[in-house]
Amino acid sequence: MNTAKITMSEQTAILVTGSTGQLGQSLKAIIDNYPQFHFVFANRSQLDLNQPDSITRYFEQHQFDVIINCAAHTAVDKAESEPELANQINHLAVKQLAECAKQHNAKLIHISTDYVFDGKSYRPYREDDTVAPQGVYGQTKLDGELSVQKILKNNAVIIRTSWVYSEYGNNFVKTMLKLGEERESLNVIFDQVGTPTYAKDLAIAIMEITGSTEFNKNDFDTQIMHFSNEGVCSWYDFSKAIFELSTISCDVSAIETKDYPTPAKRPHYSVLNKAKIKQTYRLTIPYWKDSLKQCLSALQDFEK
Ligand SMILES: NC(=O)c1ccc[n+]([C@@H]2O[C@H](COP(=O)([O-])OP(=O)(O)OC[C@H]3O[C@@H](n4cnc5c(N)ncnc54)[C@H](OP(=O)(O)O)[C@@H]3O)[C@@H](O)[C@H]2O)c1
Repeated sequence: MNTAKITMSEQTAILVTGSTGQLGQSLKAIIDNYPQFHFVFANRSQLDLNQPDSITRYFEQHQFDVIINCAAHTAVDKAESEPELANQINHLAVKQLAECAKQHNAKLIHISTDYVFDGKSYRPYREDDTVAPQGVYGQTKLDGELSVQKILKNNAVIIRTSWVYSEYGNNFVKTMLKLGEERESLNVIFDQVGTPTYAKDLAIAIMEITGSTEFNKNDFDTQIMHFSNEGVCSWYDFSKAIFELSTISCDVSAIETKDYPTPAKRPHYSVLNKAKIKQTYRLTIPYWKDSLKQCLSALQDFEK
């Protein structure tokens, strides 16, 4: 086995896992704005989080200053029928990444989810609110968070986000655009309330954090932070905005969660309070509808 480490230049070396996912691709799209960093994007064939040996081997051969973990088992319903795989990717592999970060003196930015909450709150969730995941995905993501906090008392930031969409991959916005073109009417859930997150905004926030004084302090305390776009909506409101902004005429009827049963339970309310991340890193976060406009226009450019 080749144990010689591939060393990077003088720039801060950043590893992004899950490079083919929405957030991974959104980070890739903005790297030209951050010439002070050297980025390495790893896909599943380069770093398979389902293969513990692959993770060990990878970190024997590469050295990084920062690891941004965007990889995850994100199929919320599928996770209910493949809990072991979800646990491996969202928990055990995250534990191993944290151990590698510790061993190699790298800082870690790990992405987590609003699904760690049960959705019974009446006000936006703060980072220290009680967690109570409703399904396998949320539980395995929570176990990943707990591993990071246990192994890395310092030098890690866990970012919980919600309702991620982008130009890439599969997501609610792209599904609505497709269905809106095919059908005259749709039923969409109105009793799940949260905030959409444009992956590009999250990618920019991650890079602002990476370059911040706070993150570059030696041995800062590991923190959980909440990030989504600003504002609040239901999936029904979200779909109405998608159709209005893209001038698709499709009637949308508001339905209850009970009328659209899914294998995994979803939180009824998962709005995240972002005061901590805004104050700590002096971030300005766009309103969700403004970001939706941006994404829709980027999608139009893709089609040209
Ligand atoms: N999407 C949401 O609505 C949402 C909401 C809250 C939080 N989050 C969190 O935000 C983060 C980014 O989500 P996203 O929307 O960008 O997810 P995504 O588009 O589903 O991408 C997931 C990524 O993980 C990779 N992956 C899965 N299994 C892997 C394995 N065994 N080894 C290596 N890579 C593997 C996928 O690779 P392949 O392309 O090869 O499958 C893909 O690159 C995740 O931590 C997610 O839990 C997402």
